[in-house]
Amino acid sequence: MESKSVKLAPEMLVPRLGEHLLQKGIINEANLQRALAYQQESALAGEAPLLGQALIQLNLIDKETLDQAVTELIIQLRSALQSANRNLEQRVRERTAELNEALTRLSELNQMKANFISNISHELRTPLTHVKGYLELLVSESLGEVNAEQKHALTVSQRATARLEGMIEDLIMFSLASRGELSMKFSGVDVRRLVSLLVKSAEGKAAERGVTLTASLKDNLPFVRADSEKLSWALGQLIDNGIKFTESGGSVTVAVQEKGENLIQISVADSGVGIPKERIEEMFEPFHQLDGSSTRHYGGTGLGLSLVRQIIEAHGSLLDVKSAEGKGSTFQFPLLIARE
Ligand SMILES: Nc1ncnc2c1ncn2[C@@H]1O[C@H](COP(=O)(O)OP(=O)(O)O)[C@@H](O)[C@H]1O
Ligand SMILES: [Mg+2]
Repeated sequence: MESKSVKLAPEMLVPRLGEHLLQKGIINEANLQRALAYQQESALAGEAPLLGQALIQLNLIDKETLDQAVTELIIQLRSALQSANRNLEQRVRERTAELNEALTRLSELNQMKANFISNISHELRTPLTHVKGYLELLVSESLGEVNAEQKHALTVSQRATARLEGMIEDLIMFSLASRGELSMKFSGVDVRRLVSLLVKSAEGKAAERGVTLTASLKDNLPFVRADSEKLSWALGQLIDNGIKFTESGGSVTVAVQEKGENLIQISVADSGVGIPKERIEEMFEPFHQLDGSSTRHYGGTGLGLSLVRQIIEAHGSLLDVKSAEGKGSTFQFPLLIARE
């Protein structure tokens, strides 16, 4: 069998040739119909002439006129195509400009939000410092004797201010992070001491909830390379979560141990509610809590973990989470041992 390579004739590229020829008065409707019928018959016979060929074969048009008509159509089509392209480019340019504007606006809004949170949290801190100071004076009876009942009221108020202060610190940390200002100040940190202090300060809260909080620390642990303040804040968050998401009777253990020659592994393990595997990633989203219902059982802003992860990653480390629903969770990460 002879294989014919199909050559694209300009005419094949031109749709609606019949219409064009009619419009130009080169053929009439009756002739067009004749040519179309002829095309169909030929198709049945196994040939498939193009409309132009059919017209020529039927002597309804001469080759020169056909060529000219086809050329005209191609020119028309090309200019239509060019103008469509120009329109398209124009529209793409316009859309890009719009999107750029929206993006600028969005980052401005983001900046505004971060500034707002930053300003508000600093503003909140000032009056709170006064409240704390006076409460301290009252509790220590520097302003006069207080009876047992009054002392109790004052202690409750102190605890509430401590919570408020914690939330304000979270917000300050969040606004720093979202403005990309989470700058790290590394030094050799006595992680043993840092953890002991954190555990000590969380003991009251744990006891209140009936949770046993223990620190498992070896003697003579080397210092780690860390930003002391941020590490302390992050660990505080993990301990706070551990206590918060553990029922009365459960336990939270903070352990620090050497791992190989260069690393110290820090872990916070609880025997609490646990986290379903498929929801672990979700809990790192800012302002997100797994119990998002309006009747939330646990307090908090949902900010902690997203920042904890950022802080740990800024230490060049990774936060690992292991959890089993109903059995508890372990959050752990390694830090480099500091070598002077
Ligand atoms: N130790 C944990 N056990 C179970 N769930 C946890 C634990 N830590 C965090 N979560 C889940 O992740 C969510 C986000 O935690 P976090 O960012 O610290 O916010 P918050 O403590 O303010 O709720 C929590 O609301 C909780 O649903
Ligand atoms: Mg938390």
